[in-house]
Amino acid sequence: MNTKNNVVLITGGSSGIGLAFAKKFLSEENKVIIVGRSVQKLAAVKMEFPKVIIEAADITDEKSIDMLAEKYNDVNILINNAGVHNECSFKNGIEDFPKLRNEIETNFIAPVMMAERFIPHLIGHERAAIINITSYFAISPKPSAPIYSATKAAMRSFTKSLRMQLMDTHIKVFDVAPPIIDTPLTAKISPNVKKMKPEELIEIVWKDLKNDKYDIYPGLSKLFYILSRVNPQYLERKVMAITLK
Ligand SMILES: NC(=O)c1ccc[n+]([C@@H]2O[C@H](COP(=O)([O-])OP(=O)(O)OC[C@H]3O[C@@H](n4cnc5c(N)ncnc54)[C@H](OP(=O)(O)O)[C@@H]3O)[C@@H](O)[C@H]2O)c1
Repeated sequence: MNTKNNVVLITGGSSGIGLAFAKKFLSEENKVIIVGRSVQKLAAVKMEFPKVIIEAADITDEKSIDMLAEKYNDVNILINNAGVHNECSFKNGIEDFPKLRNEIETNFIAPVMMAERFIPHLIGHERAAIINITSYFAISPKPSAPIYSATKAAMRSFTKSLRMQLMDTHIKVFDVAPPIIDTPLTAKISPNVKKMKPEELIEIVWKDLKNDKYDIYPGLSKLFYILSRVNPQYLERKVMAITLK
């Protein structure tokens, strides 16, 4: 994938991994649009990086997706990054089901709809890409976050199908499956675990994007992937022991 002179739209570009992507794309002569719900967070990024274009929108709202696709029809790289993560116990009972529904809508339904609405524009470009941010929990689930893991596994499967469907077009479809990254999303859930910095993640991902490596497993995710092929039971036991402590 060519990493210069693109028009890049990043959902969830106001924080964490999305923000690190935005900074990297801005540093390499790209036009960057970041999308998020919080106007304050977007404005803070704009203060630091005046060239970034900010758009306040909730991607779980279909009308917002229509607006984004209509307004930014010159986008040639779509990064489906926005996501939320909840832990819950089906043994102890689910107190807040709407929260889990929102997790499914944010992590799965919205990126599917974003792809559907943007593909008609992307298909007209000589070079285009969809980059979906999944997780190493798409490879082997985190039992304390069953809905999160299921949405990421669904995204991983969807990404593969989409890649195959678009094989005879100019649209390249990537799956980035990060391990645990130091962002607001993981601040509360894993305070004592060693985490990769978002900027470090992006440096690894960048090389793979440039080399058109379509399934990207940075850091510990590579070990997850290998173990899932050679000894999936061992991997499941390990993940369970660590995450259900
Ligand atoms: N951090 C990790 O360890 C890790 C590991 C693997 C995969 N991932 C994945 O990487 C992605 C980014 O995670 P992160 O750790 O960078 O999280 P983060 O720092 O919490 O950032 C999430 C971003 O998504 C935006 N967002 C959330 N819901 C949205 C909605 N409905 N509409 C529009 N924007 C929305 C947030 O902005 P607003 O709140 O203002 O809307 C924020 O900009 C997620 O898909 C996550 O699952 C993270």
